[in-house]
Amino acid sequence: MIKRLELENWRSHARTVFDFKKGTNVIVGRMGAGKSSAMDALCYALYGTYPSLQQKKLKLDDVIRYGENKAKVLLLFEKDGDEYQIKRIIERGKGNTYSELKKGSTIIEAPQTKRVTENIVKILGMSYDMFTKAVYSEQNNLEYFLDIPKGKRREKIDELLNINKFEVARKNLNVLIRNLKVKKESRRELEKYSEDLEKIPKIKNEIMELKNRFEQNEKQISELQLKLNEHKKKQEEISLNRELYERLKDAISNKQGALEAIRERLREKPEKSEEELRKEVQEVEEAVKQLEELKAELKGKMEVRKKAELKKFELKSEIERIPSIDVDAELEELKKEISVVEKEIAELESSYVLLSKENSELEENIQKLMHAEEKCPVCGAELSVEKANELAKEKRKRIEENEGRLKEIKVKIEVAKDKRKSLEKKVNDLEQERRRQDKKELLVKQLAEAEEELSGYETEIQKLKQEFNVISKGRGIEELKERRESLVKALEFYENQKMLIKTENELRQLNDELKKVKYSKEVEEEVYNKIKELETKLTALNVENSSLVKQIEDRKEMLQELEKIRKEVEKGREELSFLDEMIESFDILSNVLSKTQGIIREKFTNETNEALKHFWKKIYPYADFTSLRLGIDDAGDYILQLERNGEWINVEGISSGGERTTACLCLRIALASVLAGNLSWLVLDEPTHNLDRQAIRELAQTLREGFSGLVEQIFVITHEEELKEAATASLYMLDRDKEENGATKILLD
Ligand SMILES: Nc1ncnc2c1ncn2[C@@H]1O[C@H](COP(=O)(O)OP(=O)(O)OP(=O)(O)O)[C@@H](O)[C@H]1O
Ligand SMILES: [Mg+2]
Repeated sequence: MIKRLELENWRSHARTVFDFKKGTNVIVGRMGAGKSSAMDALCYALYGTYPSLQQKKLKLDDVIRYGENKAKVLLLFEKDGDEYQIKRIIERGKGNTYSELKKGSTIIEAPQTKRVTENIVKILGMSYDMFTKAVYSEQNNLEYFLDIPKGKRREKIDELLNINKFEVARKNLNVLIRNLKVKKESRRELEKYSEDLEKIPKIKNEIMELKNRFEQNEKQISELQLKLNEHKKKQEEISLNRELYERLKDAISNKQGALEAIRERLREKPEKSEEELRKEVQEVEEAVKQLEELKAELKGKMEVRKKAELKKFELKSEIERIPSIDVDAELEELKKEISVVEKEIAELESSYVLLSKENSELEENIQKLMHAEEKCPVCGAELSVEKANELAKEKRKRIEENEGRLKEIKVKIEVAKDKRKSLEKKVNDLEQERRRQDKKELLVKQLAEAEEELSGYETEIQKLKQEFNVISKGRGIEELKERRESLVKALEFYENQKMLIKTENELRQLNDELKKVKYSKEVEEEVYNKIKELETKLTALNVENSSLVKQIEDRKEMLQELEKIRKEVEKGREELSFLDEMIESFDILSNVLSKTQGIIREKFTNETNEALKHFWKKIYPYADFTSLRLGIDDAGDYILQLERNGEWINVEGISSGGERTTACLCLRIALASVLAGNLSWLVLDEPTHNLDRQAIRELAQTLREGFSGLVEQIFVITHEEELKEAATASLYMLDRDKEENGATKILLD
């Protein structure tokens, strides 16, 4: 039972305290007085939310009274003999900052909103969902049931009854059963292998036999292998001996061949002894050496002589080219002639100078006579012009004569000079000739020297030739060389004699060694054949054994595979019986679930219909509809129906607004009494909407009397004065100055 609700700064409430009692509590007041706010606060105190908040129609801040920063709700209730107190504080901008739950005077949970709510749900045994659907009918939400779309109602009611989980569980179970059946099938299939499993002991026996055979063979193989090894060792020794034997045989036959050849070469014995031959070889070689040296020297000398001869020849021919002339006498003569001509030239030139001088003096005198003033310029005597002219004339005649002579002298000088020139040229030529002669003299001298040199060479050559003849004794170098060859050849005889002895010794040694070697071709062949025989046997045994190994492996694999299958089959059989049990149990469980769901639904419908019938009669003031029920439509969903003349009519679509409201109100009350039976509270906010006076009166009557024993505590919120009549517990009249945005006041309680 809710005992007290205290509001502080909650919407229009500044501070309001409600004390509620068992029975019908009524809060009446005009529009906006703060009635619904009080019921919202009640819901908030219990669950930390209420429908408008939950649906986000408003924010938590909006519930704090305008101008205030903190709202507080306090609720006191009694459940199963215990008293509980809930306190919740909301701060602007911070949300619900404090929640507290007390049992008696002990705080049992604080300060977390969620934890407090969880505790309350446990104490009340009712979720927020159930509370808002079955207990708390908000304003304008009376017709909640009819507002659920058709086909969805059963689902919603199942949710309220908490039997929707049965459905989910049943579906899951069916999936599980299907899966188990599939599994069972696969296990059953394993049975087809059971025939194969019978082969297991036979295969085991076969493996044993094969293993025995394999071991026997292995024993034989190791024995044979030992023998083979012995024989191989023997064979190795024999083969070493054979190699040695063959090598010696080859060497002996080679030596014998060599001996034969040496003997052949020893058939002719030279006349001279080895010593004589060696001496002669030495002499011949010495002579050859000396002769070759002389030959080279001679060759050199002859070349030098050839060069000297060439030089002699050149000198001779150059000398011959210059003829012998005596130039000195002629040169003397010419020099004398030149000095005569030069003397003549000198005399002519001095006469020329004297005459020229005379002429210029005469010229001067003539000039003076021309300008003389009756006096002789020479002697100073009195001189007439005529005399002067005469004198001048004489003088001029003299000049003319002189000039004639000057011309003659000049010609003579020229002639003399020409002569001198030609004489000088001749001298020149002769002097040149003189130099050629000098050169010839030099060449002659050189020629003499060359001839002397040549004769020197000649002597030397003669000497060398003589020496050559002495050494060669009339034999040529080639001849000597041939001689040496034949001597060397003759000497080979003595070499071969020595070789013969050496080779005979070696042969003897080889024969001795051969005698020591032990080798027999027959024994070698015998050993070889034995080895072949042993190897053939071993190969055959090994081949057989590897095939045995494979056969054993194959059988083992088969056995493994069969063992695996055997385990699977055994496991499958165990699982099969387990699966059968499970499927059976799950089938039962699924049926139980489905049946239980049906039973609960049936029980719910029956109880609800009982309540509906009861309340309908109480609330509805007219006689046309006699009963109300929750029917089932063709699709198996719930439908609200009214009874008229024994016929059931759907409320939706047909009934009037008032009839509809009454039906829904009735359903609400019924649901609260059936679903929230353990709580037994009912909140109705404005239930009279659409109802006429008569109906309101009937409702007031019902609320007042009709719930005793059905619902413990009812809260009616209304603006309808007439419903005051319904109050059997507390009655509150609320009001507030809306113009001034005043706080809610309690006018009467
Ligand atoms: N935070 C707030 N502070 C102050 N006043 C508020 C606040 N929130 C809402 N109100 C006002 O509080 C008043 C009370 O509203 P409420 O719904 O409780 O009225 P009511 O009595 O149920 O009215 P009606 O009969 O019309 O349903 C309204 O007039 C509303 O404007
Ligand atoms: Mg209201």
